[in-house]
Amino acid sequence: MRLPERQLAVLEAASATDKRTVAEIADETGLKPETVTGAAFDLRDEGLLTVAEDETETLALTDEGREYVDDGLPEVRLYRAGTALDADEEPVSMGRVIGEADLGGPAVDIALSNFARKGFGRIDSGELTVDADADPDADTEAAALSALAAGETPNVDEAVIDRLDSRGLVSVEESTTRSVRLTDAGVDALMGGVEATETVAEVTPELLASGEWRDVEFTEYNVEADAPTARGGKTHVLRRTADRVKDVLVGMGFQEMEGPHADSDFWINDCLFMPQDHPARTHWDRFALDVDPMDEIPEELIRRVERAHRDGWGEDGDGYHSPWSEEFAREVALRGHTTSLSMRYLSGIAGAELEPPQRYFSVEKVYRNDTLDPTHLLEFFQIEGWVMAEDLSVRDLMGTFEEFYRQFGITDIRFKPHYNPYTEPSFELFGEHPETGEEIEIGNSGVFREEVTGPLGVDCDVMAWGLALERLAMLTTGAEDIRDLHGTLADIDFLRNAEVSY
Ligand code: PHE
Repeated sequence: MRLPERQLAVLEAASATDKRTVAEIADETGLKPETVTGAAFDLRDEGLLTVAEDETETLALTDEGREYVDDGLPEVRLYRAGTALDADEEPVSMGRVIGEADLGGPAVDIALSNFARKGFGRIDSGELTVDADADPDADTEAAALSALAAGETPNVDEAVIDRLDSRGLVSVEESTTRSVRLTDAGVDALMGGVEATETVAEVTPELLASGEWRDVEFTEYNVEADAPTARGGKTHVLRRTADRVKDVLVGMGFQEMEGPHADSDFWINDCLFMPQDHPARTHWDRFALDVDPMDEIPEELIRRVERAHRDGWGEDGDGYHSPWSEEFAREVALRGHTTSLSMRYLSGIAGAELEPPQRYFSVEKVYRNDTLDPTHLLEFFQIEGWVMAEDLSVRDLMGTFEEFYRQFGITDIRFKPHYNPYTEPSFELFGEHPETGEEIEIGNSGVFREEVTGPLGVDCDVMAWGLALERLAMLTTGAEDIRDLHGTLADIDFLRNAEVSY
């Protein structure tokens, strides 16, 4: 039998009776541990060795843990300082004890809270008393830290280790130890004699120049061998989803809109025929900004929107006949939807007057005073879009969504009749969560009413929607809680590993 040199070395170093670890074999053969591991897996695949894997948890001191091994745990230092100041007889002011213990910065809080937890004494009205019966010398946390520092396994309860872990004084590192043993076939091979083939691990310029590459034998790659995980920076799942959404919509003939995050109520609500006394426009729901009112709104447009609100628009329009104030319309708030951008573009102030057919979209942040829960964040990305054309129907809307979501592998969206002050008809979109099977709302849509398009000067149909990017990401990644995706509670492992599928 012929085997590459390094495999032969490992085979010869392995034993049929004892497990030998990769580290031992590396020592004996002078090969690098990763070379031994690679060779061991190759030999295993040939049936000549078995490879056993033992997962071990090793405890290590953190820098802070090491510091306390040298200087003592802060609470123990506090106790000793208290004893030195006779705080076992009479309460001593905390400042003095802390000074005597030479504690400063965060160590003070750490000392105080653990002092109390361990029953070392009492802290009352700024004075400290130590309990003479407490015995910091028998402190199990300190004992465990010293044992670790001495390279020993601490002989304490699991709970003590957990506590040290939560205090950030130890860290638990997981490692895999591999060991090998010869199989019968391996023993037979060695008895029958194995010859080493010289193999070359990589093509070098010399091999190429001399033409020697033609004759040498190359080491085979073992693509299944373990390798260290290299983690680089990567684009966040939401950004990847947003980029993909943009690509899809551009592919469907849409152009991108842009505009302010902080906008006047006029663009956010009034243009949308949202009555000024609508609950969504109260301070409960609005992130109002304490800035100057917006003055650069076309005067004529304001008058037309006001008319739609007060008296109605169109032949049988009837308006709200409720109070309407221009002052309120000019107030500035964080936009609760990006339909404000659609209003700006449809009105023509964002660019040239638009002639049908037109398609526009944006994937931008919106802000809502919602209660945080698995499907709600205070800010999220809305996929806004609209199509302006003659004679649009709900069928056109449904078809557009079906085509859009199909690009993400979502083929089972459902539609539910809905109400929006600005669209008629309106409907919500639902998608089934791949993990929980729950129907989650993924968007809202409709055909703009005449009260919206009329004042804007648009005299054909406009169908429009707002879809939630995060909800789409939940469907494509399987995330069950929107807070795993972004925000302070984001799940780093999830973000590292999540695939955006489409
Ligand atoms: N503005 C709506 C929302 O935020 C979405 C929408 C936009 C609905 C345009 C219909 C038309 O839910």
